[in-house]
Amino acid sequence: MSNHYDVIVIGAGPAGYSAAIRCAQLGMRTAVVDAFVFKDGEPALGGTCLNVGCIPSKALLDSSEQYHKVTHQLSAHGITAQGVELDVEKMIARKDRVVKDLTGGIRQLFKANKIEWLHGHGQLVEAKTVEVRRPDGSTERHSADSVVLATGSQSVELGAAPLDHERIVNSDRALDFTEVPERLGIIGAGVIGLEMGSVWSRLGSEVVLLEAQDEFLGPVDRQVARTAQKEFKKQGLDIRLGCRVTGTRVDGSVTVSYEDKNGKQELEVDRLIVCVGRRPNTDDLCSKEVDLLLDERGFINVDEDCKTNLPDVYAVGDVVRGPMLAHKGQEEGIVVAERIAGKGGHLNYETIPWVIYTDPEIAWVGRTEEQLKKAGIPYNTGVFGFAANGRARAMDQTAGMVKLIAHAETDRLLGAHIIGPQASELIAEAVVTMEFAGSAEDIARTIHAHPTLSETVHEAALAVGKRAIHKA
Ligand code: FAD
Ligand code: NAI
Repeated sequence: MSNHYDVIVIGAGPAGYSAAIRCAQLGMRTAVVDAFVFKDGEPALGGTCLNVGCIPSKALLDSSEQYHKVTHQLSAHGITAQGVELDVEKMIARKDRVVKDLTGGIRQLFKANKIEWLHGHGQLVEAKTVEVRRPDGSTERHSADSVVLATGSQSVELGAAPLDHERIVNSDRALDFTEVPERLGIIGAGVIGLEMGSVWSRLGSEVVLLEAQDEFLGPVDRQVARTAQKEFKKQGLDIRLGCRVTGTRVDGSVTVSYEDKNGKQELEVDRLIVCVGRRPNTDDLCSKEVDLLLDERGFINVDEDCKTNLPDVYAVGDVVRGPMLAHKGQEEGIVVAERIAGKGGHLNYETIPWVIYTDPEIAWVGRTEEQLKKAGIPYNTGVFGFAANGRARAMDQTAGMVKLIAHAETDRLLGAHIIGPQASELIAEAVVTMEFAGSAEDIARTIHAHPTLSETVHEAALAVGKRAIHKA
């Protein structure tokens, strides 16, 4: 069997499925090749994000937060709960249901938009021909006017801590522990390490994170990172910086050998999660006849419009440069579909928000003070703490702050850095302001409802002009 399509997309994560849906909306005959199989053996759309990434991790973060609230936080509200029990298997089953509902939703969207899903491994065998290897080993070739590569990424492995998928695992398996490990080790105190560490620590694990860098959360604003480190320490996360892992031994438990500034160390844990970054899925993407240009780290080389070096072949999402975030990939997918249709799609890489879903949440957009100093750009900052916000006090969630950074001469908003309750939602106001080239004054002159957490953003904007109302 061989078909010709207007567009073939390889990969059905947020980047690929969004590209496909937008192509179909624009009237193009579209097929998507995806090989993913969920742990129950069922092929599933949605890629890493829906199956083993954003969604399951947030489902577990939410469940663990509920448990932690009941066991640790409700007494301050005059509520005592007795006989609280934890059923981890049920928690994991709920997480799986959330995943299934959403991946089933993508399947429905494909049907509604008449997108063909070709389940199997896709390989570019000629510039615009894709070979699909089906699970039964059979192959078929399909051609298209345009091809979109959206094959995503996978966990980087560490020679010193090889996975055995039981005691030493990556993030995929860490979403499926059926009991709470008494002692949990995590290599890498980055985004996954902190989110997974939070889940299992709230459920009762003693969590130790071994981080190679001397600085905690390097890419994050320093004031925010310091606040985060202090808060996580209070919660019992033991974050050890400047650690070089040299080996692991598994015998019932896992012994991790590492070196830090004090010399050789050992850590004994029941489970170990390795989360030291992700790498692009490009190993088996092209036959040797196809000369797709990759960079030295294996990412597909693209220009600002996500065009590869091959005519009519585009690449989007984790498999290309830029942050490995679902919303970045999704927007790239939409832009590419619109460009294929001859429209003018555009993505502003300066306004991609980041969120770390810890407690407190951390969110930022745009540039940090450190980056602006380096670039010689003059700026003013406005900082306002949640401790002086009425709603945060009512919620008993007063840790953290909002920091806004504006150009010293034009007042244009250049960055926003938030640590605190609902930071993931609050950041959107700064993103929109930056997208509209707005100023701190624009936010300062905008009415924010009272009492809301968003008043902290308002006060931070007032603080840029040194006129915050609730600040001494
Ligand atoms: P993917 O989602 O990786 O999808 C690629 C798809 O292509 C997969 O289904 C893969 O099986 C398939 N594929 C690969 N090669 C082939 C081939 N040759 N043939 C056929 N199919 C192929 N990001 C956020 O923005 N917010 C979060 O909260 C967040 N949480 C995360 C939590 C975890 C634990 C992890 C691991 C990641 C998280 N991410 C988060 C990152 C997010 O998951 C990725 O940025 C996003 O999934 C990238 O989308 P994508 O479409 O580029 O690739
Ligand atoms: P990461 O890059 O965020 O963190 C990896 C950490 O491991 C870094 O701090 C790094 O210094 C450290 N490290 C590297 N090698 C090490 C070693 N040998 N020993 C000890 N530490 C080492 O990568 P992570 O956490 O694996 O996540 C991958 C990506 O997935 C993220 O960068 C992000 O793009 C995406 N993601 C996004 C989420 C979100 O948006 N909330 C949640 C989870 C993942």
